[in-house]
Amino acid sequence: MRVAIVYSSKTGNTEEVVQLIQKLFLKERIDVTLYRIEELQIKDLINYEAVVIGTYTWGNGEIPHEMMELYHAFETMDVKRTLTGIVGTGDSGYPKFCGAVDEFRDMLYVHTKLIATLKIEVSLQIYDIDRCRKFVSIFRDQLIKRQTIR
Ligand SMILES: Cc1cc2nc3c(=O)[nH]c(=O)nc-3n(C[C@H](O)[C@H](O)[C@H](O)COP(=O)(O)O)c2cc1C
Repeated sequence: MRVAIVYSSKTGNTEEVVQLIQKLFLKERIDVTLYRIEELQIKDLINYEAVVIGTYTWGNGEIPHEMMELYHAFETMDVKRTLTGIVGTGDSGYPKFCGAVDEFRDMLYVHTKLIATLKIEVSLQIYDIDRCRKFVSIFRDQLIKRQTIR
């Protein structure tokens, strides 16, 4: 059960969330690797059963430019069976709260097996920990289900 988490974070909010998600996967004894987008060879993602994307939102509800190559890669790679999830931080003071999460969600829904979405208001709060647990448990259940079927 191999999971990759790929993320971008300018001021650290998204990084904190994906680090917690990584810990929660490890607690479930799931093999997980955390990559900052700059560290990843995007084509290597086809080797993972599941991919979680973490992103902040920029401009007017936009995906950060460094995440665009990843976005377009998912449109063209053979990832139909890959389980995916998208998590992001944003500020609801902006008209398009977590707009980048919405954009990724819509694309991943079309090209992959999207199973979970999570939006966090700016930075991780105590009450978000349970939401992150739920996010990870959805992956755990789907990964186990796949092993059972095989
Ligand atoms: C110039 C600028 C534009 C932003 N635009 C949006 C936006 O359109 N929607 C949103 O939800 N958040 C927006 N944000 C808020 C960031 O997404 C939010 O602070 C996020 O937690 C930053 O994540 P990071 O700490 O991982 O870099 C914007 C922030 C800045 C500074």
